Amino acid sequence: MVTLAENPLRVGLNQERVPDPCILVQFGASGDLAARKLIPAYYRLFVQRRLPPEFTLVGVARRDWSHEIYRDKMRAALEEFAPQDLGPEALWQDFARRLFYCRLDLGDAEGYLRLKQFLGQLDEERATRGNRVFYLAVAPDFYAQAIQQLGAAGMLADPAKTRVVIEKPFGHDLTSAQELNRIVQRICQEEQVYRIDHYLGKETVQNLLVFRFANAIFEPLWNRNYIDHVQITVAETVGVEDRAGYYDAAGALRDMVQNHLMQIYCLTAMEPPVSLRGDGVRNEKTKVLQATRLADLRNVAAAAVRAQYGPGWIAGKPVPGYRQEPNVNPNSQTPTYVALKLECDTWRWQGVPFYLRTGKRLAKKISEVAIYFKQVPLSLFPSAAREVSPNILVLRIQPNEGISLRFEAKMPGPEIRTRSVEMDFRYGTAFGSSTPDAYERLLLDCLLGDPTLFTRADEVEAAWRVVTPVLSAWEAPPGHDKGGNTAPPLYTYEAGTWGPKAAEDLLAQSGRRWRRL
Ligand code: BG6
Repeated sequence: MVTLAENPLRVGLNQERVPDPCILVQFGASGDLAARKLIPAYYRLFVQRRLPPEFTLVGVARRDWSHEIYRDKMRAALEEFAPQDLGPEALWQDFARRLFYCRLDLGDAEGYLRLKQFLGQLDEERATRGNRVFYLAVAPDFYAQAIQQLGAAGMLADPAKTRVVIEKPFGHDLTSAQELNRIVQRICQEEQVYRIDHYLGKETVQNLLVFRFANAIFEPLWNRNYIDHVQITVAETVGVEDRAGYYDAAGALRDMVQNHLMQIYCLTAMEPPVSLRGDGVRNEKTKVLQATRLADLRNVAAAAVRAQYGPGWIAGKPVPGYRQEPNVNPNSQTPTYVALKLECDTWRWQGVPFYLRTGKRLAKKISEVAIYFKQVPLSLFPSAAREVSPNILVLRIQPNEGISLRFEAKMPGPEIRTRSVEMDFRYGTAFGSSTPDAYERLLLDCLLGDPTLFTRADEVEAAWRVVTPVLSAWEAPPGHDKGGNTAPPLYTYEAGTWGPKAAEDLLAQSGRRWRRL
């Protein structure tokens, strides 16, 4: 039989990256992430013929499902979350034949042995050669247990054939992340471990690397001599949705800053890597994190703002405040908004503040990096605005992915007066295709054994180290943090606005302000 990988009609097509045959074992198969993101991503990869013909997916969860029920549930998930991708019935049937289910209680050692036996049987039937990816999309409290049990059952023994994907959050503070790393490293080699941060799978986040290191004109300016400060914004309009159980214990600093914003920050601030493969990029990201600190470590409130959304309006509809959301503690102190001022103690960045902000129920869903260049040394021209605006380079991560550069131009007319204009590049227009989903890219990379876009043990710990002083101050017993300062306040902001005034003040202290989005 001619396999898809050998099909002569596909020669020359852009299909060079097809992974080896393998079984993907999906823990948390009945969960929300699997339904919303993972199954649609596997299915799209399958439709694009990026998966090997032998690809096999084994869903693992506690529910008492049969293979047939699992297939029906996954079909329903596709209909709900990616109906546009379903295509002809025959295509789905072809995919569904690769789906199997295995009931497992994460603490039950016998269950893992049964799973092992089942996988062995599938290897024989489907020629998957003992290659496995174990994807842990379970509640974070169970990561250690699942890895220990997989290890005890001998399922992670061969680093050349087995990988483990661990979802975020990796730990809930530095100590727990270190502990989890220790457990993981006792059982696995680091090259088997794929800690996922889906922001790294976003095309525009990767484009930060291309933009910086494939163009000669920006890098010479990318330093303290030309850049005044950097603003990184990840704003969402959604609230806590139905995730209060997880979110109320996590909050915005753990949920978004320690991982997604830190990754964007790293790619913006890192030095050029020696190579794009393997550890080249991860080494440079880790170095940036090691040089990064909160701008004011003695007074956390002067460099970190936290807030929680109150009731307000989103898209013309009234929405409840965070504490009124289902299953949220009515006295919750969990921040849904965070703004930080960071400093990076390197030759390149000394004295250039990086401002990071993220929040739920903000006025718009928008993520971007804005590089503010220094003002010209002498202003020769009268401007239409009161003063000449600085050049701003904006890397738009989502939506309307693209890049724009703001600069001053002469306004038409007999006088010389200037106004800010924008040069704009849009992904959609330039490439005429939509950007693939982040999970698709990351899953494919993992199946191919390429860890570049996954976070390494030391990198995760370094990111926790940056946010630890903030966590300690915010979570110190009421009244005082460990340094004896008054605990920084938890502000409130109206849903549908841009966050608390205190976040404006964070920049205003040094005569700056957040970009209006
Ligand atoms: C997740 C967070 O990691 O990222 C969510 O847990 C957040 O709270 C989501 O809403 C945002 O992802 P995206 O891709 O929609 O920007």
